Amino acid sequence: MTTRRRLVRVPASSANLGPGFDVFAAALALHVEVEVIETGRFAVETKLDIARDRRNLCVRGFARLHSPEGFTFRIRSAVPLSGGLGSSAAAYTAGVLAAAHIFELQEDVLGHVAELEGHPDNAAAALLGGFVIVTGGGEVARFEAPAGLEAVIVVPRAAVRTAVARRALPAQVPIADAVANVGRGALLTLGLSTGDFSLVGRGLHDRLHQPYRAHLFPQSMALLERARELGAIGATISGAGPTVLFWTQADATDAVVGRLRREAAGWADVLRAPFESQGADVREL
Ligand code: HSE
Repeated sequence: MTTRRRLVRVPASSANLGPGFDVFAAALALHVEVEVIETGRFAVETKLDIARDRRNLCVRGFARLHSPEGFTFRIRSAVPLSGGLGSSAAAYTAGVLAAAHIFELQEDVLGHVAELEGHPDNAAAALLGGFVIVTGGGEVARFEAPAGLEAVIVVPRAAVRTAVARRALPAQVPIADAVANVGRGALLTLGLSTGDFSLVGRGLHDRLHQPYRAHLFPQSMALLERARELGAIGATISGAGPTVLFWTQADATDAVVGRLRREAAGWADVLRAPFESQGADVREL
């Protein structure tokens, strides 16, 4: 019998991008890699501090389409786990894609991952790469980052659980805040599509989620407020936080990284995380 074996590589992602709560996301060049091998025994092999049984997110993704019995999952990841970088969407995506590829199933991979996650933004960026706009109705539009736009992430060591951050949101928001976010989201989209970084910077403000979650990551919010002073175009809480995404112009990125490293000393790590055009990829080994 031929041993079936697949290598799946899925990018991290930053969701919301300021005004686009549950709507905007971008893929980042930090990756989860999963080898799925038909060894005849179920196992999860990894050096990461994650579940090694059927609760593992990659296994749960796989199990959506086929029993993981008889398969070994070898998991590596460069995606920090403290929150906000789409690691769970990447893991689910890897599992669903591996099963779909091995068993030659024509499946709505995005639909499966969005259901597992409860929201589709990270899932769409992980699957498709680039920047994505998703709607509640399941529509997705994808586009490339403009040339010269870069990203730096500040990753606090203290984790925040997405479920906790979602519970911090109100059931209703003032109409003025909703209107403000529509305006900012439009500026951001226009800025990204025309490569106008001044519009991008003006489009990064949010009134729908960051203010309600600020108490969960006060140091992240305090640093975010100083993004311009630190030389960035602006900054957004990445997904449900606590990671912060600093948006930079390529010629300023080194200086911003240096300043952020000084500011983050002792409580967070600073990483370059270029925007990633390539979405999830499966290879037969
Ligand atoms: N849009 C989601 C949220 C992303 O902000 O809750 C979670 O990663």
